[in-house]
Amino acid sequence: MNREDFPMLKQDIIYLDNGATSLKPQVVIDKMTEYYESYSANAHRGDYDISYKVDMEYENARDLVVEFINAKVKEEVVFTSGATESLNMIATGFFANLVEPGDEILITTTEHASNVLPWFRLVNDYGCTINFIPLDDNLHVTIDNVKKSITPRTKIIALAQVTNVIGDIRPIKEICKLAHENNIFVVVDGAQSVPHMKIDVQDLDVDFLAFSGHKMLGPTGIGVLYGKQELLENLEPVNLGGGMNESFDSPSEVYYVDLPTRLEAGTQNIAGVIGLGAAIEYIKKIGIDKIHEREIKLREYLIEKLVKIPHIDIINLEADSGIVAFNVDGIFSQDVAYYLNKYNICVRAGNHCAKLVKNATGVTNSLRVSLYFYNTESEIDELVELLSDKEKIVSEMI
Ligand code: ALA
Repeated sequence: MNREDFPMLKQDIIYLDNGATSLKPQVVIDKMTEYYESYSANAHRGDYDISYKVDMEYENARDLVVEFINAKVKEEVVFTSGATESLNMIATGFFANLVEPGDEILITTTEHASNVLPWFRLVNDYGCTINFIPLDDNLHVTIDNVKKSITPRTKIIALAQVTNVIGDIRPIKEICKLAHENNIFVVVDGAQSVPHMKIDVQDLDVDFLAFSGHKMLGPTGIGVLYGKQELLENLEPVNLGGGMNESFDSPSEVYYVDLPTRLEAGTQNIAGVIGLGAAIEYIKKIGIDKIHEREIKLREYLIEKLVKIPHIDIINLEADSGIVAFNVDGIFSQDVAYYLNKYNICVRAGNHCAKLVKNATGVTNSLRVSLYFYNTESEIDELVELLSDKEKIVSEMI
């Protein structure tokens, strides 16, 4: 689907590592080039035509994000360098000022490092406790298990909406309802969900959402921190500097501007913001539901074939996303990845920055295929054919 829009696909490669980063359509590249070539002034600072144009394009991209995730107002959408920075800002700028020793943070063992380490810091620096929501037999989060994990000390539930190895979709709406009935905040890592499925922050009622542009056809180095306005008002800026202050005369007389600019100190990744806007426009044209549907079809196609290969162990047989994690029996995942690379097939191997997953699966490393709508059945056929012959893998892997 839409393969002709992606210059990278003109090469002889099969790109199945979309969970790491997606490819970029020409319209995104062109939009960023246009900025650099014809109006590359700074944002929110100039009084001349091209700087007005930058302001317009920058804020138009924000409006596109607001609409895409159905935020209430633009004050709720802050540009960051990516989901990682967003999650760190949430933990350090908001929760570090709020938590007390003994407060509990609920996560799971299948979170990415970016949704583990900022919370570990609250444990180490502020005496909080991390508890892990038990997973069911399919490594999924159930509302019952969330219920059982909540105690009077639970303050935060921080979960990926779709995890980057197991690929399960969490029941975020139900979790938010339960959490809010118990005065618990919900932080959602949307890095693997926002690019692939419809997200409506008001309907889900999430308190915070973090995601990255580069996994959703946009450029690297740009991401979004969404937060309910009344919460973001209390998020202490981690970075102080130009653009975010109204005035300052002495350490006791420092005044910040309003949201969202208050949280965007310094010259921002302007080309990145504009490129992300173009990516969202592109996704809108295709339709996010259509993208999700296509990925599920591709996933089913892949799974149907992989289950027939006796030496393949699928780790996440049950998942509703384009992420499929597996191993070739007795062969180190990275060796298989090198072997596939000889045939220009790009997959990820290792622990995928989710180093606690082994506690849930008993498996330290795996191969991960992560699909996007531009992948095809014939690409999957080629992958499967190469994986079917274990002797060939063993003889060619080094
Ligand atoms: N978080 C990215 C991945 O899962 C890099 O591969």
